[in-house]
Amino acid sequence: MLRGGRLGEEIDDQVAKFTSSLVFDKEIFEYDLLNDMAHVVMLSEQNIIDQKDASEILRELKNLLEAGIDNLNLDPKKDDIHIVIEDHLSSKIGEVSGKMHTARSRNDQVACDLRMLARDQINLTIINLLGLAETLLSKSNENIETIMPGYTHLQHAQPTTLAHHYLAYSDALLRCTDRLEEAYHRINHSPLGAGALSTTTFNIDRDRTAELLGFDGVLENSEDAVGSRDFIVEILSDLSILAVEISRIAEELILWSTFEFGMIELDDRFASTSSIMPQKKNPDMIELIRAKMAKIIGLSGTAVGILKSLPYTYNRDLQELSPLMVESFDIVNDSLLVMASAIESLKINKDRMRELCDANFSQATDLADLIVKENNLPFRTAYKIVGKTVSEALESGIKPDKIDSKMLDRVAKDISGKDLALDDEKIKTALDPQESIKTRSIQGGPAPVEVTRMLDNRKNKVKTIKSKLDERAEKIKTSKDSLIKSVLQIIGE
Ligand code: ARG
Repeated sequence: MLRGGRLGEEIDDQVAKFTSSLVFDKEIFEYDLLNDMAHVVMLSEQNIIDQKDASEILRELKNLLEAGIDNLNLDPKKDDIHIVIEDHLSSKIGEVSGKMHTARSRNDQVACDLRMLARDQINLTIINLLGLAETLLSKSNENIETIMPGYTHLQHAQPTTLAHHYLAYSDALLRCTDRLEEAYHRINHSPLGAGALSTTTFNIDRDRTAELLGFDGVLENSEDAVGSRDFIVEILSDLSILAVEISRIAEELILWSTFEFGMIELDDRFASTSSIMPQKKNPDMIELIRAKMAKIIGLSGTAVGILKSLPYTYNRDLQELSPLMVESFDIVNDSLLVMASAIESLKINKDRMRELCDANFSQATDLADLIVKENNLPFRTAYKIVGKTVSEALESGIKPDKIDSKMLDRVAKDISGKDLALDDEKIKTALDPQESIKTRSIQGGPAPVEVTRMLDNRKNKVKTIKSKLDERAEKIKTSKDSLIKSVLQIIGE
């Protein structure tokens, strides 16, 4: 259709296949039709095309929206979905269909479609992110008293609870939600009316098409409107951060389900076995999540690479960016769903978690704190006394609950020349992980009272995000309804 003007009619099959974006364009088909409708409604309202012509065009657009993409001939020689739709209209109503392309270009069209797609995909991703966050919050609620060792350097550090740990995951995920929400508001602006790059000589109304398509406003500078894809890079960057978070969670689930950790067991649905080793239960689905997250990070790098050297404004290179965004959204959304059900159905081995807290002196800091409080010693001195005591205990196989005042005094004399004369009961309490947790009720700490407060706070945060999500979805839906109403009015139905 675009041939036979400046260019000759012929195009090579191989080149057509190479050049066409039709395989991807299925993703923007519906957005493109809405975009066409909004443009034609506006052209008619501005008397740029008369009502009768607008009505003919809009009727066919509406029929096509109802019939769906399967009724179209997606021949790669037709380049892309914009041309396929125009061509389809031409076959139905003849030359008048050509009026639809007055005062616009595929450049502003595709930029507009992609922004419409991006906002829906962001909303969907936020729904799935909140799903995972809610699973974590509800499991956290069930495990407020589930003591486990907290790690630094992957070595036992201090006791914490599974609830506290899950809250840490969900806080990171809620920040990812915030990032996507912020991106949404930057993205939800209409490039329509920018034309190829420098608007048009027709008296169009850009605010009107923006309104008909549910945008918050127009993306003003017309060169920026058609030449920018920073929104795709921004989305992919946000998804990369999310991918890092999901992958870290996956990594812990894999580690914790090893024989050596033994802290959790995945439900059989999230495991595979070996074709030769009959005893095996492998965390394959979680491993796949970990690998898929690497893909997202890779796609984000590809996007930056495509965009970074492009002269303003539109270049065909931009076509290669669009599928990266959709692929990333698909991977993230599938993974979020699998992760949420894996965590929902996890078996928690509370006894093993508790056992590990004692196994390697993760309560040692509490003992040092006790010495500081009881003996008014500098923390560094207490730290040395406990360090030396732990080292001796490990050497002679003494468990934490067997550390007593006598042993501490012997070491303390060596180090500070004085006895500590601590009460054995107090030493026992300091070395009891359960007690240790209770005393960490500082803001953000693992004590049940503080975890309960944080849980309430996060549940409220999820509620707030949900209501903003509903508002955004409602705005898109209302604008679509009113666009269709305007279309029906013009075609007289
Ligand atoms: N399929 C093209 C894309 O995705 C549409 C825009 C084509 N514009 C052009 N000047 N060739 O970017």
